[in-house]
Order: sequence, then structure tokens, then C-alpha cells
Amino acid sequence: MKIIPVVTQKGGVGKTTLSFNLAKAAADVLKLRTAVIDLDGQANVSMSLMGDESIKHCYTNGADELFGTGAFPEPHKTTHGIDLFHGHAQIDRIDHDDEINDRVVLTTELRDRLRKLPYDVIIVDTPPAIGLRHMAPLYWASKVVIPMIPDSDSLIGAADTVAALKIAANVNKGVKWVTVLNKIKKSSKSHKEAITFVRDEYRKELIAELGDRVPVADSRDNDMPQAVWQYRGSPGALRAEWLDFCKKVLA
Ligand SMILES: Nc1ncnc2c1ncn2[C@@H]1O[C@H](COP(=O)(O)OP(=O)(O)OP(=O)(O)O)[C@@H](O)[C@H]1O
Ligand SMILES: [Mg+2]
Repeated sequence: MKIIPVVTQKGGVGKTTLSFNLAKAAADVLKLRTAVIDLDGQANVSMSLMGDESIKHCYTNGADELFGTGAFPEPHKTTHGIDLFHGHAQIDRIDHDDEINDRVVLTTELRDRLRKLPYDVIIVDTPPAIGLRHMAPLYWASKVVIPMIPDSDSLIGAADTVAALKIAANVNKGVKWVTVLNKIKKSSKSHKEAITFVRDEYRKELIAELGDRVPVADSRDNDMPQAVWQYRGSPGALRAEWLDFCKKVLA
């Protein structure tokens, strides 16, 4: 069983898009038993998987209940063949619970319980903010995906996430991590400079450089969200690029 969170403090860099595509690749292409944990109060990946915006206001049986000491909540069985522990607008109620915080950062109890769930892979989507729901998955992960866009704010967010991961690695020994550049604009001079920096800084961890492409946004932003490689409007090379990225992460 692998737990793969997509984490960085910076907003809008593609965490949810990557999480959704990783889960689809795991379930549809690799035929793995797959679950998604949505720790974001925006509940974006939950809405995509359920095809229903009302999930955001369903405050019971959500991913926050994974943090308790009682039985785990029952996941939703989505039509994607992916189980979902959903996020919702009140999920931040766990952020300032000292008991939960201690259990997350001082013990491997939650990680060990999660790893016993009957899945081959669990993808975790996270909120764009520092705090418990950003840190906890770093303590659970087998491999962390850190996305960044080539601008300085995003690179600072990624560096802070790497620093947090190194702290978590004291408890979560052997955790691996990779980085991915996303939403690259070919014609941008500042992007070019940032990419040169990232290639050097993350020589070993950088596994993909994904462009800013309309079909990527369109594939998820419709009534029937699809993976990039399943979307009618995606050109062949783009499909191959996204599938290749997902397979590398899931390997
Ligand atoms: N490679 C890409 N090309 C074009 N658009 C993209 C790409 N990746 C993500 N997007 C779009 O960028 C926007 C932000 O992406 P997404 O919601 O995945 O980011 P996020 O990091 O989860 O944001 P948040 O921090 O708010 O949770 C979305 O509209 C998404 O469709
Ligand atoms: Mg998101």
C-alpha cells in the first residue's frame, strides 16, 4: 500500500488536477484499488469525483474523521471506481486540536492505521496553507509529490514544503519525494529562468515539466471530469506526457 500526497503551500499550482489524474491513472490504467483523501475545505477533488457540488456541505463522514481514535468513516464509492474520503467546508475544525496534532507529529499511529486500509494506493489532496492538513500527509506518505509553477512565490512554497518534509522524515522514515513543474508558459522569460533554477536545485527529484495547456483545465472543469488522456480535446502528445508523469509517480 502506497500513500501519495500532493502537497505545497502555494495555491493554484495544480495540486487537485494532479491528484485527480493520479487517482484516475491508478484506478483505470494500472487497475489498482484506489482511494482519495481530500483534506481541502474547498473540496475540489471531492466535487470532481462525486460529480456533485453539494458534497462540500456534507459535514459528516468526511476525511476529518480519519483523525479521530474511533472507527474510520465509510468512504464514498464513486462512479470512477475510486473510493473517496471527502473534504468539506468545515474540515478546518480539526486544525487546532492539540491532541490530534500530537498524535500526527509524534507517533506513527495514524500512518500505520491508514496503511492497513484495503487499497493499493491512496492519493491525498491538500489545502494551500500551512497547518495540520498540510503537515499530516507528510507523516503518512510513502512518496510526496511537490508541484510548483515556475515563479518565485511557488518556488518558495516548494522549498518550505521540502523543509517540512525533512522534519516529518524524522518520524516517517524512508519517505520519498518528487517534484513536478506545472503550468509552464513557453514564451515567458521569467518562467525560463525559474525552470533553469529548478532543474539545478531539484536535479534528482524533478520528474516532469508540464505546460500550461487549455485541455488540461477543460478536462476536469466540465460535468463529467476526465483524466487528461481520456479527454476528447487532448492532443496525443499531451495525453502521453500526463500518463507518463502519473506512471512515474505510481511506480
Ligand atoms: N497544466 C495545466 N494547464 C492549464 N491549466 C492548468 C494546468 N494545471 C492546472 N490547471 C488549472 O489551474 C487551476 C488551478 O489548478 P488546481 O485547482 O489543480 O490547483 P490547486 O493547487 O489544487 O489549487 P488550490 O491551491 O486552490 O487547491 C485550475 O483551473 C486548473 O484547471
Ligand atoms: Mg486544490
